[in-house]
Order: sequence, then structure tokens, then C-alpha cells
Amino acid sequence: MAYKDLRDYLRVLEENGKLRRVKRQVDPSWEVSCMARWIYQGFPEDRRFGLLFENVKGTSMSVGTALVGASRDVYALALGTPPEKIHDTWLRVLSQPLAPKTVASGPVHEVVIPKEKVDLSYLPVPTWTPEKDKRPCITACCITRDRDSGVQNIGTYRCQVQSKNQITFNTNPGRQGYQNYESYAVHGEPAPVAVAIGCEPAVHLATSAALPKGMDELHVAGALKGEPIEVVRGKTVDILVPAHAEIVVEGLLHPTGRMVEDGFGEFLGYMGTSADRIWFEVTAITHRRDPIYYGYISQCPPSESTMIQGQANECMAHWQLVTHFGEQTVTDVALTQTHGGMLGHAVVQMTPMYPGHAKRVGRLLAEITHFKIITVVDTGIDIRYQQHLDWVHNSLVNPATDVTIIDDCFTFFMDPSRDERGMGGKLILDATHKIGHSYTDLSLPPKHLMWKAYESWQDADLPAFNIPQRVERSLDWHAKRLECSDNGRFAGLGTTVRRLKY
Ligand SMILES: Cc1cc2nc3c(=O)[nH]c(=O)nc-3n(C[C@H](O)[C@H](O)[C@H](O)COP(=O)(O)O)c2cc1C
Repeated sequence: MAYKDLRDYLRVLEENGKLRRVKRQVDPSWEVSCMARWIYQGFPEDRRFGLLFENVKGTSMSVGTALVGASRDVYALALGTPPEKIHDTWLRVLSQPLAPKTVASGPVHEVVIPKEKVDLSYLPVPTWTPEKDKRPCITACCITRDRDSGVQNIGTYRCQVQSKNQITFNTNPGRQGYQNYESYAVHGEPAPVAVAIGCEPAVHLATSAALPKGMDELHVAGALKGEPIEVVRGKTVDILVPAHAEIVVEGLLHPTGRMVEDGFGEFLGYMGTSADRIWFEVTAITHRRDPIYYGYISQCPPSESTMIQGQANECMAHWQLVTHFGEQTVTDVALTQTHGGMLGHAVVQMTPMYPGHAKRVGRLLAEITHFKIITVVDTGIDIRYQQHLDWVHNSLVNPATDVTIIDDCFTFFMDPSRDERGMGGKLILDATHKIGHSYTDLSLPPKHLMWKAYESWQDADLPAFNIPQRVERSLDWHAKRLECSDNGRFAGLGTTVRRLKY
């Protein structure tokens, strides 16, 4: 489904019961974030929803949060796909990006505030960790451009408001936004930047994925949306911005200057410390009439940023294993909702085809991602169902032989467990049925009797339920395994199971 803009998407979110409007007046300096925090702290994932604050103190703008990342169901709605198709969608669009379409004008330019009139207090930027964050931060889709190739990049970066027209830009040298800044800075030139707030959901989802350098997020967003993203040239910077964005802040990154960014509530769950950052001067703010300010709620997990980064990271990891490393029997990857969707526990679902295959895939993933603990399971396991995972951890992992510890990994700088050199470790658990071992049958009745009993259940006027996919998966997988010798790998279980389309 191609949502034209954020407003079009909000309508669908509301129709699906996943958006709540707040009519009472709220204070953006604490109340917006603290109320939004309860979505994650007070509700189980399947009952979470996005929030739209319609009466925000000091502004006529509405403020939305958790709009694309309240839960996996909401993320799927933003993608316009059922939750079980999230990976299929990402794997398809990464191979078939769609270029944006440049248009002459767009709603984002309905109102233009020129440089001399810019005052950032005009925007209702919430303070996300009240009494701990010293300054509010705009976290949105930050668009930069490589000076020489002209290729644009969009990353979701934190922009801390330092004065009425100055903003620090939280990127480090590993980030493409920073590399684009450097492509100008080495020539002593200011780099153009545009921060798009409140775009069609595909743009938000594409820009929170760590795509390979040279892959323009707008092309991926177009493929996610199902039609080209309409873009319009900025009013004061040579950057193409989403034409249907609610608000865009344009500016020029100072080629040499640094400014202190105050510590901010970080996505891994702890407060960050102050640091010197590159910064930009705002050259214009443009917006639609009656704009909606959209701010992601991040900080302590679970949060919106954990959800959207986690979903993108697990899909990217899946894509890389299959397309870059030829691991065709990997069927799914799931990441737990901790540590910003980055340092979490990843579970890989696959069919090992030879002894040691599961460990190999676990080690590969440990090398190419920040994931800290990696469990590899067979395709008979529902990797998003904690009880199934506990079952295989406790039954199929022999700590003496199936655990690999990788030490001396250069780890993410915010990992609280890393040592003074910046090194950390990783843990890999092989929770697959091992080739060469013999295992007995599953102690559930066979599928045909369970399915017959489902009919009896319905006849008996008992409470209704849908058969969970994991039950069918588990029954089918074990039945197939017993049909083949040696747990099926060499006799073709891998391909058979894949043909079952799990
Ligand atoms: C809500 C949210 C906030 C983020 N904040 C930052 C940030 O301040 N700095 C940063 O480098 N990455 C941040 N990220 C992660 C990046 O946006 C993400 O990894 C992105 O893909 C980086 O793109 P790049 O590799 O093109 O620079 C954030 C992600 C989300 C979802």
C-alpha cells in the first residue's frame, strides 16, 4: 500500500485501532515523552499504539510519536505488509530499489521561514529524558550529499538544538552522513544538510536501516512505498527533500567548527555523555500548512527506535547472509527488543547442511553485525516465541560443545561490558539438531489427530482460537525429520523444508 504522506498513513493507523489522539493540553518539555514512555513500559507489545498529541503547550502543531514503531504490527502496517511478510518485503526491495521522482513543488514548501526569521523554539521539539537531557533533540531523517558523486544519503541522526539557529549533528566518522560532510570539509566548504520531519512511513523505515554505502535510502524508500518518492529541491540548499514531508530544516554544516553536545538519553538504555560534534547553521525552515511534528521515542528500551532499528537490522542481516554469503538455507533472523535493536540477542533460523554449518553461520553473523549473542535454530522453531527458544536452549545446547565464545571483538563504543581497550566478546549457541546425533520423536500427537481434534474443539462450543503457525511448523518439521536419515540434511531435508515455504 502506497501511503501518500504521513497524514494518509495516520488515517490507516487509526482505522486499525493503532493510533490514539490526546486532546488534553500537554507540555512538550516533559509530558509528551513521559506519557509516551508508558506505551512501552505499561503495555505488552501487541496492545501498543502510536500517539498524536493535538493540544501541545506553546504551539498550534500536533506532535506524534511511536507512529511507525509502536510494535511489530505497527511497523508492518507502516510497510503496508502483514507482519510475517516483513522480511520478504525487505529482501525484495533491497534487490530492486526504485529511484525518486523530482517534482517542481510540493506541500513541504507551503510555508517558508527564511534564515533571518529562523527561531528553532518555533518547533515543539520534546525533551525526551526530562531533567536529564539539558537540551531538546530533533531526531529525524537527515539528508546529506557526497560533494563529488552527488549521491545523497539519509540517516536518522540526533540533532541537538543549541541556540535559535544552531544544531549539533550526531554522526561519527563511520556514518555516511559524516563522510558526506567530510567530502566538503576537506575543501573548506560548508556541506548542505536537510532534516526531514514527518515523511511517508517508507522514508522513515528506509532511513533507519544501515544500508551499504552508495545505496541511496530514497531509492529503497521508493521500493518500500511501491512508487517513487516525490522529491523537491530545498529552498536554500542543493538537496532533494521529500516533497510531502511535514517539516524540513535546512542548513549548512560548518567545515571546521565543533560544538559541545550535552549528554542525552541513549538508545541502549543509559544516559550518554557530552561530546564535541560537528554542527550546522539553519538557513531555512519549510513546512506544510498545519504541520505535524513527528519525534521518535528512543532512550531506554523497549522503544520506538529499538523496534525500527531492530526490524531493519534483522532484515539486513538476513539479506546479507543469503545474498552476500550465499547462505541460502537461512530462512529468518529475529532480534530481541533490547539494546537499541543493535547489541541484542539474534536468533537465526536455518537448515544446517553439514556438521558445523550452524556454528559457521553464527560466527559470520557475529563478524558482520553488532549482535552480541547469536542462537542458531532449525526451521521447525518459531524464533519469535520465547517458549520455543527456551526449549531448544535447554534441550539442544550442550554447553560443553555447542557454545562458541569469541573474545577480543572490537565492539560498539556504547557496549557497557567492553574493556578499557574497547574490546568485547560474543556468544554463539548452536541450538540445532546435530548431524550424526539421533533424536526421538516429538511428544505431541500427530498432525492429522491434532487437526481432527481442532474440529472436535469447535463442535464442543469451547472458546475459539486460531492454530498458531508454530504448532504446524513444529509438527511438520519433526515428521519430515523422521522420514530422512541423519536428521535429514544429507537426505534432502533442507530443500524439503524450504519447499514447505516457512
Ligand atoms: C530513532 C533513531 C535515532 C538514531 N540516532 C542516531 C544518531 O544520533 N547517530 C547515529 O549515528 N545513528 C543514529 N541512529 C542509527 C542510524 O540512523 C542508522 O544506523 C542509519 O542507518 C545510519 O545510516 P548511515 O549508515 O547511512 O549513516 C538512529 C536510529 C534511530 C531509529
